[in-house]
Amino acid sequence: MGEVDPAFIQDPQHRPKLSIIQAEGIPIIDLSPITNHTVSDPSSVEGLVKEIGSACKEWGFFQVTNHGVPLSLRQRIEQASRLFFAQSLEEKKKHSRDESSTTGYYDTEHTKNVRDWKEVFDFLAKDPTFIPVTSDEHDDRVTSWTNPSPQYPPNFSDIIQEYIEEVEKLSFKLLELIALSLGLEPKRFEEFFMKDQTSFIRLNHYPPCPYPHLALGVGRHKDGGALTVLAQDEVGGLEVKRKADQEWVRVKPTPDAYIINVGDIIQVWSNDAYESVEHRVMVNSETERFSIPFFFNPAHDAEVKPLEELTNEQNPMKYRPYKWGKFLVHRKESNFKKQNVENIQAYHYKIA
Ligand code: OGA
Ligand code: NI
Repeated sequence: MGEVDPAFIQDPQHRPKLSIIQAEGIPIIDLSPITNHTVSDPSSVEGLVKEIGSACKEWGFFQVTNHGVPLSLRQRIEQASRLFFAQSLEEKKKHSRDESSTTGYYDTEHTKNVRDWKEVFDFLAKDPTFIPVTSDEHDDRVTSWTNPSPQYPPNFSDIIQEYIEEVEKLSFKLLELIALSLGLEPKRFEEFFMKDQTSFIRLNHYPPCPYPHLALGVGRHKDGGALTVLAQDEVGGLEVKRKADQEWVRVKPTPDAYIINVGDIIQVWSNDAYESVEHRVMVNSETERFSIPFFFNPAHDAEVKPLEELTNEQNPMKYRPYKWGKFLVHRKESNFKKQNVENIQAYHYKIA
């Protein structure tokens, strides 16, 4: 990633401003009322549910503390990620993502057809994960993706799996709180994830960039899945488009907190009550940055559409149903290469 490559250059209107606005007001929510408990008694978590509801409505983003994921586990995966990316490119490419299984190492991801200044390592929560062969809706063939198994750093796969187990528990709890905040049964969303979820974890490494005013670590985008649970290190760089005024604001790193954002699927389920908010990652010329998002996604055959309980005559369905797996495969296809058309977005299913 050494020399100036035009593939990384953002169009002028999407280039980051170097004067950064630190976000005031992205809610920090203390999850201690539910840590180590299930959300069995809704009245004991009423305050929490309200906080989550307004954070989803006003920001689409929030941070959580006292979330129950052991700090030691987070430190282990962060350390393993550093060791993995510190290897030579040749070594890392031995575990490359390819067209048949989009897991493992990858350094040429494009967001909105501009290359991101980053390298990633993707690892599935379920091995194998079942997924449609193509994004063609008439093609019923299903294939399976599997995980790579690098031998270095030691116990890499075990560490990642252990970590996934914990963030997955947190994700289920957050889903319950979100369901309650929408006036639904706490377990309303669970069925979509119990069998064959397509969640995955991504280790992100953003190397120092000699032209941080022209390139982005990840270009502006919305997460297509249900929920994202992100661990960022102390460097900072994540920017969120503030709903109140459409300004890009930076999410200040909070030690040991997780950044949560609702993805497109929750936007559709909630019939736009909660919106999936645009975000991006700025890079800088001095310091490398690491982050670890967990993308919590339903089974490939989950049909995504506004929930009946949340629609009525006054508030009719705003989206046509779509199959999550087809959407995911479409995104993955477009991430492989620079294309001249916009890649798939949830609003393409919007009923005009
Ligand atoms: C992503 C993402 C943010 C970050 O990978 O989808 O938004 O801080 N990452 O790395
Ligand atoms: Ni994202």
